[in-house]
Amino acid sequence: MSNFKKNILITGGAGFIGSHVIRLFVKKYPDYRIHNLDSLTYAGNLENLKDIEEAENYHFIKGDIKDAELIDQIFMEHKLDAVIHLAAESHVDRSITNPMEFIYTNIVGTVTLLNVAKKYWSDNWDDKLFYHVSTDEVYGSLGDEGLFTESTPYDPQSPYSASKASSDHFVRAYDNTYGMPVVISNCSNNYGGNQFPEKLIPLFINNIKNNKELPVYGDGKYTRDWLWVVDHARAIDVIFHKGVQGETYNIGGFNEWQNIDLILLLCKIMDNRLGRTEGSSEKLIKYVTDRPGHDRRYAIDAEKIKRELGWEPSVQFEEGLEKTVDWYLENEAWLNNVTSGSYQNYYKQQYG
Ligand code: NAD
Ligand code: TYD
Repeated sequence: MSNFKKNILITGGAGFIGSHVIRLFVKKYPDYRIHNLDSLTYAGNLENLKDIEEAENYHFIKGDIKDAELIDQIFMEHKLDAVIHLAAESHVDRSITNPMEFIYTNIVGTVTLLNVAKKYWSDNWDDKLFYHVSTDEVYGSLGDEGLFTESTPYDPQSPYSASKASSDHFVRAYDNTYGMPVVISNCSNNYGGNQFPEKLIPLFINNIKNNKELPVYGDGKYTRDWLWVVDHARAIDVIFHKGVQGETYNIGGFNEWQNIDLILLLCKIMDNRLGRTEGSSEKLIKYVTDRPGHDRRYAIDAEKIKRELGWEPSVQFEEGLEKTVDWYLENEAWLNNVTSGSYQNYYKQQYG
């Protein structure tokens, strides 16, 4: 018999957000056993978890969420109480080039997990939970005004957001049809250490460091709401423990930035950290062809989680961005590892 109070399967735990969630749970809850299922795609990296990999309550399983037999075996062997599902294909530009991967992982993979959870839990749903981690991109694009709330109708615009929207619908359908206890959160753009340098902030940090051009899509006036990844992990912890089953929670930073303003701030921080003359990184900015179907603005109304569960961001953006820059500059080996090999082909294909 296991001495652990709960057995929790976290999927995608070797990725950017997943690794921060795993770290928080492993350290904060020594009486939970955390099983990390990750197939280690280009975005998954066990180096992200080096500091906790020897912990008693941590267990890594290399495998695919689409592998029903493996998932079955994991549920049987570890008597899972809960799933926190983060594994996904997560980059919009890749979804434009190769949508099928997004359908397989984000939709088929999610439904595979739901099916096995139903098989093992449906005799007695008590104290079980399927927590699905999603994105604000399912709501589509905003104009100059307004915010996404939990009741904003779904209107996904990219293959990535369409696949995430579909997976959200399946999770709700398993609650509605079979009575599965579920909870969903939809979060805004995350930033912080351990993010693969294909997303805006780590890509631009790496390019500035290497004196490479900064490819700004379109007019650069697209707007995102940015949240420090550790604050997202804290929100997941709060929702996991205090969220009401069947509910959705929007998570955001109350922190909107137009891309170009964010990039100028990043250039300033980088000039300072690298000891370059102020204004030198800005010269790397190059406006390039826009992303097809580019969503103009995302902005989250995160009042519900603040009001009902008492969560709010802990870090101001300027401070978080400085910490993030420092993380990438201090973790040169990590950055060099992930940008060798197949990253070079991706970069050439995406940016020419
Ligand atoms: P990521 O791309 O950094 O990591 C994804 C992880 O999933 C990787 O470790 C990868 O190896 C793993 N994975 C991919 N396919 C798999 C499969 N078939 N089987 C098992 N593992 C697989 O992604 P992220 O940015 O950490 O995002 C995590 C989750 O949070 C995703 O569901 C994403 O939609 C959601 N989300 C991300 C953001 C953001 O800003 N990054 C914002 C809101 C929501
Ligand atoms: P990204 O980090 O890919 O996140 P998402 O598209 O999921 O919001 O992009 C953030 C914003 O930055 C988005 O408006 C697209 C823009 N962007 C660029 O201008 N250039 C780039 O090279 C990348 C990757 C993104």
